[in-house]
Amino acid sequence: VIGDATVMDLHGAELAQQLRPLARAVTLIPFPPGEAHKTRATKEQIEDRLLEEKLDRQGCIVALGGGISLDMAGFVAATYMRGVACVNLPTSLLAQVDACIGGKTGLNTERGKNLIGAVHQPDLVLVDPHYLDTLPRAQWACGLAEMVKHAMVADEDLLGWIEAHAGELVGPPYRSDHHPLLRCARIKAEIVQQDELETGRRRLLNYGHTVGHALELASGHSLDHGRSVALGMLVEGRVATTLTSFSVDELERLRRCLARLDLPTRPPSELPFDALLPYLALDKKRQGGSLRMALPVRVGAMAAAHDTFAVTVPLEQARQAWQDEAAS
Ligand SMILES: NC(=O)c1ccc[n+]([C@@H]2O[C@H](COP(=O)([O-])OP(=O)(O)OC[C@H]3O[C@@H](n4cnc5c(N)ncnc54)[C@H](O)[C@@H]3O)[C@@H](O)[C@H]2O)c1
Ligand SMILES: [Zn+2]
Repeated sequence: VIGDATVMDLHGAELAQQLRPLARAVTLIPFPPGEAHKTRATKEQIEDRLLEEKLDRQGCIVALGGGISLDMAGFVAATYMRGVACVNLPTSLLAQVDACIGGKTGLNTERGKNLIGAVHQPDLVLVDPHYLDTLPRAQWACGLAEMVKHAMVADEDLLGWIEAHAGELVGPPYRSDHHPLLRCARIKAEIVQQDELETGRRRLLNYGHTVGHALELASGHSLDHGRSVALGMLVEGRVATTLTSFSVDELERLRRCLARLDLPTRPPSELPFDALLPYLALDKKRQGGSLRMALPVRVGAMAAAHDTFAVTVPLEQARQAWQDEAAS
């Protein structure tokens, strides 16, 4: 069982007890929490431990935790002995609605997030909402940002539902009769089923992430993934108002929704756009440089851009959108 130390302390012992009747041996392998530890160095330590424990190819890795734990454990499972079975047990809202599905795994390097990794589908995904009981309130917002993203890319009704129930969604307790957990997971699963290797439609799940990833890194992770994605959706939404039929009214609807969910609605004033540049995947062959973004055409639908689902955006247009959002 691989997971960050926080989750392992809270839930590892109980899980080990549940697993013992099913396995020859169960070993808990915690690693330090946080993006700063989603690295090759951590992966190596975990792999050395697995080798010490003599996990063989019949073994199974159970990924327990949030998106970081799943990304780490999943990548270990993808390469250990050229690939072993993996079960995802997501414990954060973000991981339950998003990261546990789709098989993307990966690590950060100083040059960017998730640059080293593999697509390795889990053999089983078990979403148990009881884990959310211990999730700190601040972490709920991260999952809510991805839920809003799912609504923005594929399901306008879901956005309406989130708007109407924002007050109940912002934190624990989880209410099974009152939470679109499954609906969000289904959206992701359906899109991944159509395009597992992200050659087309799956790219629309990158909405908010081109700017979001760069922001997360430029802020030294002081803005976490969910908050960065929330701001990324606004900046990229602003770009969309100039390049697609996405309207300013829809952008303002998105902003109001994010605000109700306690998510940020304005890029931090101390961060100029240039701070993002080292972390943006720039196509420098084009004059002045350009970016590729998944952009909405309206709430619930994305620009197909000739089935690439990635619109070419001149760097200057992204800069302008950032400045407009910072001044909004
Ligand atoms: N592979 C994918 O498809 C995919 C999709 C989205 C995000 N991600 C990745 O996921 C990461 C973000 O995921 P995250 O927000 O879950 O981060 P995380 O894994 O760091 O979890 C957030 C925090 O909550 C704690 N936590 C998690 N579950 C808990 C619980 N039940 N009780 C108490 N504390 C708990 C963790 O210890 C951590 O401190 C990013 O690295 C992102 O790149 C991957
Ligand atoms: Zn994300």
